[in-house]
Amino acid sequence: MIGRLNHVAIVVPDLAAAASTYRETLGAQVSAATDLPEHGVTTVFVELPNTKIELLAPLGENSPIARFLQANPSGGMHHVCYEVENILAARDRLKAAGARVLGDGEPKTGAHGKPVLFLHPKDFCGTLVELEQA
Ligand code: CO
Repeated sequence: MIGRLNHVAIVVPDLAAAASTYRETLGAQVSAATDLPEHGVTTVFVELPNTKIELLAPLGENSPIARFLQANPSGGMHHVCYEVENILAARDRLKAAGARVLGDGEPKTGAHGKPVLFLHPKDFCGTLVELEQA
């Protein structure tokens, strides 16, 4: 069911410093920062030949990644994002299999303007999983 690895997300305390690390030290192509108020994050995408790295920093008071950053002050890997062809069909299949879909279970618009859902880490090997409709 899952397709390509769309991105790996890393939460960082300082987005400009992280973007510079990827651009200058690692020599990668890095996007401008984009605020996603609906998700409480600011994102920078690092373009790699076969996938992307999503650098995430908290935006606003109630950012869902604020607690993650408290627990991991220097940042850390936050989630992996797999592409699916049909996000509602994928959700229904996973729920039928007993997996927990986070939030109200309805897809939200993600960082690429496409529908996304998040799956509970305890159901997926301790890793938060994002599904994005390709
Ligand atoms: Co993501």
